[in-house]
Amino acid sequence: ARVDKDGHKHFMAKEIAEQPVAIDRALKAYMGDDGQLSLPAELDFTKIERLTMVACGTAFYACMVAKYWFEQIARMPVEVDVASEFRYREPPVSEKTLALFVSQSGETADTLAALRYMDGKAQQIVGLVNVPESSIARESDVILPLHAGPEISVASTKAFTCQLTILLLLALRAAEQRGLPLPDGMPNDLRAIPGLIHQSLAGEKQITASARGLAEARDIIFLGRGQLYPLALEGALKLKELSYIHAEGYASGELKHGPIALIDEKVPVVVMAPRDALFDKTVSNMQEVMARGGKVILITDAEGAKIAGDGTHEVIVMPQVPDSLAPILYAVPAQQIAYYTAIAKGTDVDQPRNLAKSVTVE
Ligand code: G6P
Repeated sequence: ARVDKDGHKHFMAKEIAEQPVAIDRALKAYMGDDGQLSLPAELDFTKIERLTMVACGTAFYACMVAKYWFEQIARMPVEVDVASEFRYREPPVSEKTLALFVSQSGETADTLAALRYMDGKAQQIVGLVNVPESSIARESDVILPLHAGPEISVASTKAFTCQLTILLLLALRAAEQRGLPLPDGMPNDLRAIPGLIHQSLAGEKQITASARGLAEARDIIFLGRGQLYPLALEGALKLKELSYIHAEGYASGELKHGPIALIDEKVPVVVMAPRDALFDKTVSNMQEVMARGGKVILITDAEGAKIAGDGTHEVIVMPQVPDSLAPILYAVPAQQIAYYTAIAKGTDVDQPRNLAKSVTVE
C-alpha cells in the first residue's frame, strides 16, 4: 500500500508522531497482557558468554544504548561496533557469542557483510529489522521484526525508538534467563512509554522556538553521560543530517579532553541529563560550559530543572521516568530539535542532500 503523509508536512513529522502507536505495537508483539516477556523460544542467552551487536548509523546508536542495558541488567559482556569497521577487523569469535544485527531496512551492505562474517562462527545470529522480508532477516537464525511500520523519511525516528524498546526487552529476557532479578517495575513499566512519548511530543512548541536560535549556529555540541551518551551522538547525527549544521555528540566526561576548546557564546550546547545516578557529574560538566560563556539547553526532568536550571539558556522539561527508560524518551527532543532546526533553515527534511535511506553499496 502507498504510504502518505497523513496530513503532516513531512514524513519525518508523521513518523515522529507515530511513535506511541509504533512502540505500543512492538510491546504487544513481545510482551503478554500478563506482563510476561514473550520472545521467540530459540532466543537463548543461557549458554551465551558474549553479545556482539553490529549496525550502522542510528541503528548503531541503538546498539550503544543497549550495551549499557545488557551490561547493567543482564551482567553480560557486550561488544558493539559499526558494521564497516567490524567486517574488516577480523575479530576472533568465541562460539558462545550471540550476534545481533540491527537494521531498519535489513539491506545495509556493511551490516549484511558483518552478519555473513559471523555466520558459522557465532552460536546464534539474530536480526532486529523493520523489513521482515529483507536480506538480513533472511540470513538470520532468529528474526525479530521491529513493527515500526514503513519508515519513509531518510532520518530514522520511529524505527530507532522501536529498536530501543525491543533491545530493552531483550536485555530483560537475558537477565531472566541468567537468573538475575529484573530492575524494579520491569518489564511492566515499559507499558508507560507510549503515553510518556505522547506527553513529550507536546514539547514541540518550545522546541520550535529554540530551533530558530539553533539555526543561526555554526557548531552545536550535544553532551550526555552513561546511557544518554549515545543519545547525544544521535542528537548530533540527526541535526547535522537535516540542518547541515556541524554538530558533535560527546560523552560529558570527555568535554575537558578536547571539545571544551570550542566553547564560546556562539556555540550552543545541548545537555541531556535526566536526574539519574550520574546527574551531578553531568551538571558539573555543564557548569564548565557555562563558565566559558557557552549557551546551554538542558533537557532534563522537573527535579533536574529545579536543581540545575539556573544560568542555563533554556530548559526542556521531560516527564520523570525510571532510569532505563530515559534513552527511549529523550530520543523525542533529539528528533524534534533536528526537525525544527531544519525547518528554520529551510532544508529538505525528508530527503537531505547526499544521504540515502538505505545504503546497499559499500
Ligand atoms: C542510512 C540512513 C540512516 C540509517 C542507516 C542504517 O545512513 O540514512 O537513517 O540509520 O543508514 O540503516 P539501516 O536500514 O541498516 O538501519
